[in-house]
Amino acid sequence: MANLLVLGTQWGDEGKGKIVDLLTPAFDVVARYQGGHNAGHTVYVGGNKVVLHLIPSGILRAGTLCVIGNGLVLAPPAFFREVADLEARGVEAGPDRLAVSRGAHLIMPWHPIVERLSEERRGEKRIGTTCRGIGPAYEDKAARLGVRAGDLADLGVLREKIEDNLAAKNPVLRASGLPPLDAAAVLEEYAGWAAKLVPYLRDVPELLHERMARGDRVLFEGAQGALLDVDHGTYPFVTSSNPTAGGAATGLGVGPRTIHGVLGITKAYTTRVGAGPFPTELRDETGRRIAARGDEFGASTGRPRRCGWFDAVAVRYACRTNGVDRIALTKPDVLAGLEEVPVCTGYRYKGEKLGSFPVESWVLEKAVPEYRVLRGWPDGALGGAADFDALPPAFVEYVRVLEGLVETRVGVVSTGVAREDTLLIDAEIGGLVDLARLRAASD
Ligand code: IMP
Repeated sequence: MANLLVLGTQWGDEGKGKIVDLLTPAFDVVARYQGGHNAGHTVYVGGNKVVLHLIPSGILRAGTLCVIGNGLVLAPPAFFREVADLEARGVEAGPDRLAVSRGAHLIMPWHPIVERLSEERRGEKRIGTTCRGIGPAYEDKAARLGVRAGDLADLGVLREKIEDNLAAKNPVLRASGLPPLDAAAVLEEYAGWAAKLVPYLRDVPELLHERMARGDRVLFEGAQGALLDVDHGTYPFVTSSNPTAGGAATGLGVGPRTIHGVLGITKAYTTRVGAGPFPTELRDETGRRIAARGDEFGASTGRPRRCGWFDAVAVRYACRTNGVDRIALTKPDVLAGLEEVPVCTGYRYKGEKLGSFPVESWVLEKAVPEYRVLRGWPDGALGGAADFDALPPAFVEYVRVLEGLVETRVGVVSTGVAREDTLLIDAEIGGLVDLARLRAASD
């Protein structure tokens, strides 16, 4: 095994940041393949909370090259805010450590404005997006109007693209009673970003090819989660990119066979931010307890996350659509202290049992979950466990039942926020990660 893909199997916020940070020492390159600064990856290092939005979490480990692929949409102000924040913490985030694909699309000043208009227009039916301009930037990419990072290298090209875009966007702004944007002012701003961003620009497919040819290992990092995928998620309540495994090939320009294994990050319960169907949602005291204990507030927007029981139908679907080899189970410590922990094992729709996860949101909206109720495990019993066998039997049973329902083995259990609070429970995880190298780096 050489290269590993790490992705979320639910609606995002599964704790990918921590796992990527933990595994990074076993890899030479960490490459993100989709999304933008809508993501929020929280990592605790030495008791300090670090939140990354756009830059791969691998940046926190010196010596790792981090890559932003063509599949991302990049807002230069957000990118440089993050670079400055990292450098203020003593983390080097210059072009030697960070490469940006010339094919990445730029989030332009009109994108967040257009997004707010679109969300307002939808009213009750709004998606509850992060309003960072992500969706409209992907819309322009598909409409073949997008401005790409590589365009910053030629200000003549940049000017033309800004003018072409504003010819399409300003009538929309005017019609909504908003002032039009001035092409010269946008050009001036982006010429400033160009001077700073161009040194980071690289031919990413070529770079990755070279690195892999010399034996370097790549960790492909997904953002959001499989159920927010624009193709395979709960459309239209999804993000506008492909967090699913296939997105790594298109979002970085690598062949599918360069992905040797897939690790699915899965929270021991379910959360969702924004609107959309969520069959196991708890709108009661238990839901609020989970939210409070799990610190379930959006890392990007601070919005409270909706919380609910583990949904095995949804996670089995995600494991299948992504070819997940092993699961990394996160945050079971949050459920500790509950007498009983229900797990959703199936749905009924209009009285009939559904055979699988429905692709139509309007079906999922009305799906009635069926539960199997498992015993809870005591508070405080997970922290500090030296190995899997030392964990409470009720929790071990929870893990085994989940594995059976989602038809995928759990390879890693994360029992707390710190790097140390992690158990590699399955020796076969060594088929996905070079454990000797990982241990050597941690010593
Ligand atoms: P957008 O990605 O800003 O277009 O938002 C679309 C949907 O994806 C909304 O429901 C967001 O709350 C959700 N979303 C986007 N990024 C994340 C994330 O990193 N974690 C969880 N939800 C997200």
